[in-house]
Amino acid sequence: MVAIEGGTPVRSAPFPSVSDASGRTFGPEEAEALARVVESGTLWRVNGTEVPALEREFAEYVGSRHAVASTSGTAALHLAVAAVDPEPGDEIIVPPITDFGTVIAVLAQGAVPVFADVDPVTGCLTAESVADKLSERTRAVIVVHLFGGPAPVADIVAVCRPRGVRVIEDCAQAYLTVPAGGGFAGTYGDLGCFSLQQSKHISAGDGGLTVTDDPALARRMALFADKGWPRDTGERTHLFLGLNYRMTELVAAVARVQLGRLRGVVDARRSVARRLVEGLSDLPGLLLPSTVDDHSFWLFPMRLDPARVPVTNSEYAKALVAEGIPVTAGYLDRPVYLVPALTERRTYGTSAYPLTAPPARREFTYAAGDCPVAETLIDETLLVLACNERYIDADVADIVTAVRAVHHHFQRS
Ligand SMILES: Cc1ncc(COP(=O)(O)O)c(C=O)c1O
Repeated sequence: MVAIEGGTPVRSAPFPSVSDASGRTFGPEEAEALARVVESGTLWRVNGTEVPALEREFAEYVGSRHAVASTSGTAALHLAVAAVDPEPGDEIIVPPITDFGTVIAVLAQGAVPVFADVDPVTGCLTAESVADKLSERTRAVIVVHLFGGPAPVADIVAVCRPRGVRVIEDCAQAYLTVPAGGGFAGTYGDLGCFSLQQSKHISAGDGGLTVTDDPALARRMALFADKGWPRDTGERTHLFLGLNYRMTELVAAVARVQLGRLRGVVDARRSVARRLVEGLSDLPGLLLPSTVDDHSFWLFPMRLDPARVPVTNSEYAKALVAEGIPVTAGYLDRPVYLVPALTERRTYGTSAYPLTAPPARREFTYAAGDCPVAETLIDETLLVLACNERYIDADVADIVTAVRAVHHHFQRS
C-alpha cells in the first residue's frame, strides 16, 4: 500500500542534500585554500591572485577566451546585461521557467523582460518562440538551460545574430551541458553566465562567473563589477555607472578547488540519471529525459502525460513526498512573470519603471495566460526529482521503488 493510503513509506532516512555536507563535495583542499588566502592577508581581488587565476582557469575549462568573476549568478547575469548596455525600456527576451535572478538582471539595468513561451518537453525557449517576441526594441535574449538540459541555443543564435540581437546563456544550472553541436553551454551565445551558489554543481556559497570571447564585452564587465573604475590605468575615475560585484579571494580559492571536482560531479549525476531512466522508462505516461550525456542533471525532470496518468503533478508529488522522496511539482509555484514584482510592477518606487511608456515602446503588464505551455508544465505535468552526485545505489533504488509504486497506484485509481 502506498504511504498516502497509510502504507509504510519506502524511505525514512533523509537523502543526501545540497544544503549540507551530506550532498556536497567539499574536502580538506577547500579548507587549505581558505587558510592560504587568510595567511596571505589579501582577501580582496584588487591586488589578489586567486580571482584572476579562477577567471583564467574557468575560461579555459569551458572553452571561452575570457571569464569575469562576480558575487552571484544574478550578478553574473547583470554583468552580461550591463555589457550589452541596453537603452532604458529596451527589451530582453527571457523564459518564464527560471530563477528570478534571470529577470532581476534585466530590470536592474532598466530593460523590460519579455516572456517567450517554452518547449513543452524541455521547458526551454525555442527559436520559434523567441522569433515571435522580437521587436525593434529587442536587444538580447537570455536562454536558460533548464535543470542542466540543453536549450537549442545554436538555433536561437541563428535567429538573433542577423538582427544584431545578443544571446546571453544562463548556465546557472548547466555546467558541462552539451548543446546540439558539441562543446559546452555558455560558449554559443555572446555571453554565458554561471552560479556558484550553495545548490549548484560546484559551489563557494555564492559567486558568479560570466564568459565571453569578446574582449570589449569582457572589459566592460570587469569595469561594471568594480564601480566603472579602470584601476589598471592608475587613475581614480569612474567611466560609467557600475556596482561593486567583486568576488573575494576566499570565494575564488574555494571555487578553484571546486572546479577540479566538476567533471566528477557531473559524471556521477549522469550515472544517477542513467539508472533512474533504466528503472522508470517502462512506466506508461511518465516521460523522462530522452538523452543523458548532454544533460548535467542539476535536477532530474519528468513529465506526466495527462492522457495516461489521471492526476496532476501536485497530487503525484504529494504521494512521492509521503514515500520520503525529494521531489517538487512544477519546480516553481508560478511562472516568474506572475510574481508580485512584475504583476504589481514593484520596481523603483511607485514609478513602474522601466515597464512604462516611455521609456518602453508600450506599457508592459504581466498576467496569467501569457505563456500557456509554461503554465501547463508548472501547474499540471512537470515533476522534478532532486539529483545528487552523492546518491548511492540504495538511494537510486528507493527512488525507483517509490516512483513505480506511486505510478501504479494512480494508474489503477
Ligand atoms: C537559472 C538560474 N538563473 C539564475 C540564478 C541566480 O543565481 P544566484 O542564486 O547565484 O544569484 C539561478 C540560481 O538560483 C538559476 O538557477
